Amino acid sequence: MSAGDVILEVAGLRKYFPVRNVWKRRVGWLRALDDVSFSVRRGEILGIVGESGCGKSTLGKTLMGIHTATAGRVVFEGHDIARLKPHQSRRFREHLQYCYQDPGASLDPRWTIRGSLHEPLIVHTDLPRPEREARVREMLRAVGLPETHLDLYPHEISGGQQRRVGLARILTLKPSVVILDEPTSGLDVSVQATILQLLLSLQRQFGLTYLFISHDLSVVRLICDRVAVMYLGRIVEIGSTGAVFTTPRHPYTQSLLAAIPVIGGRRVTETFALEGEPPSPTNLPSGCRFRTRCPKAQPLCAQRDPPLRADWPDQQAACHLAD
Ligand SMILES: Nc1ncnc2c1ncn2[C@@H]1O[C@H](COP(=O)(O)OP(=O)(O)O)[C@@H](O)[C@H]1O
Ligand SMILES: [Mg+2]
Repeated sequence: MSAGDVILEVAGLRKYFPVRNVWKRRVGWLRALDDVSFSVRRGEILGIVGESGCGKSTLGKTLMGIHTATAGRVVFEGHDIARLKPHQSRRFREHLQYCYQDPGASLDPRWTIRGSLHEPLIVHTDLPRPEREARVREMLRAVGLPETHLDLYPHEISGGQQRRVGLARILTLKPSVVILDEPTSGLDVSVQATILQLLLSLQRQFGLTYLFISHDLSVVRLICDRVAVMYLGRIVEIGSTGAVFTTPRHPYTQSLLAAIPVIGGRRVTETFALEGEPPSPTNLPSGCRFRTRCPKAQPLCAQRDPPLRADWPDQQAACHLAD
């Protein structure tokens, strides 16, 4: 297969969580992912952006099989893995890895770094111990940590070093696609920069494809080839980073971009700040889900749910009115 072919294809993906009352009866559904479709090309960095609660982590976890999809297809390296039972999908999912938003969550405080790095290899492979140890040391070097760290516990290293260990742990399984969930959130700005540099160098060294989940648009603009904008469980705009950032088509993308500060420049598009909170994903508006906050909304927007329109080069947007 050549560079740039589709490595991961997601079609009509849904993840609904049951909403229960105090008697544990289901009284509704929370639509965390509601008909999400996109594809990822081998070797690219695809950014996933959107406000807190729009479904970014649910997307990552559903792709990984941590959550079972309610509906839809996830075709990874030619196999539909969405409906497979965990034991059936394990051998495909080894090559698709999810890096947790909170690195503390993936490192057991009772285990040394060595223990945490050996564990995925024990679970997923039958490599003998000396070979596991060699791979663990190779990955520790790749993420820029000294071998002396192998005998330390998570609380003995810094937050930035914990992220590096989290990455090394994932890389031991030789993945092709890595889902990075807010990989730099909660870190000092200087540490953020070194982690981003590390991610880029690991990508080159191991030929990785990244799904880069973030709410930090300036970071996404810096490192992503393409970007998908999510709102209430749906992709409302997707396209090349250049196109989305210079000519955002969806009013939601326009307002997100208006919220990031610009130094010494004017914006290309007419923009506005976003007001209020998004509606609840348990009770979505009729028609377009953004219309209750959209300054351009028309009667049509309450009647019809807009599909993603591919009316522009390198860009698609789900809006009746975008031009
Ligand atoms: N395990 C769960 N059970 C029920 N609801 C959930 C669960 N995980 C996430 N949600 C809900 O799904 C929506 C999307 O959450 P999430 O994917 O974490 O958003 P993001 O990562 O974009 O901040 C939110 O409304 C959240 O409350
Ligand atoms: Mg999240």
